[in-house]
Amino acid sequence: MANSHVIIAPSVLAADFAHLAADIERVVAARADWLHLDIMDGQFVDNISFGPGMVKTIRGLTDLPLDVHLMIERADHYVPRFIEAGANSITVHVEPEAKHEISKTLRSIREGGCRAGLTLNPETPFAFVESHLPNIDLLLIMTVHPGFGGQAFKPEMMEKVRRAQDLRSSLGMRYEIEVDGGINAETACVSIENGAEVIVAGTSIFKTNDYRLAINSLRGESSAPTNS
Ligand code: DX5
Ligand code: ZN
Repeated sequence: MANSHVIIAPSVLAADFAHLAADIERVVAARADWLHLDIMDGQFVDNISFGPGMVKTIRGLTDLPLDVHLMIERADHYVPRFIEAGANSITVHVEPEAKHEISKTLRSIREGGCRAGLTLNPETPFAFVESHLPNIDLLLIMTVHPGFGGQAFKPEMMEKVRRAQDLRSSLGMRYEIEVDGGINAETACVSIENGAEVIVAGTSIFKTNDYRLAINSLRGESSAPTNS
């Protein structure tokens, strides 16, 4: 069944940085809804990606919402720079290793005019995010351990997606539920069935030749090639 209301957010980490502008142009033309930008500092995760300068460059290439995922220590310190660079939503990690005061950081994101997101690693219990749920716009459920693209989806994370949906409806909250890591047509379908509304995908879009086909299949639309 097609899910035209589902938001598809390609993760630019998997793009070809030597042809970044062209890749972004192609993914926008393929009807991506948002762009997901993974920020890694080599401390909170074991990889280094890019920073606010790159976000600003990408802002200059598209009007699509920029969904910034901070996998860094001291997100509180860097939030103003990502707001300034043109982020539309900023998601921070709940784990103590992220070394920030979560409520305060979420507040500063909203005060800066961005949507505030919170996320948790696969091994982090859902209880860690519960007290923050009334104060967020996005809840990102990591379906791989963060740091690298191209890893295998963890289906056991669907329990968290269902819990996020149950709590939202029973307590009348409004956050959107997002999944990130190992998402392809099959695991997108599983995630959507369990309640995810925003689908992040790097490898399954940027490592293919036909971004339109890849995005359509993530939405559950026919994977048969069309002439349009
Ligand atoms: C992982 C990042 C993801 C990653 C997803 O640390 O948060 O956004 O780019 O890549 P794929 O879709 O290849 O798993
Ligand atoms: Zn991400």
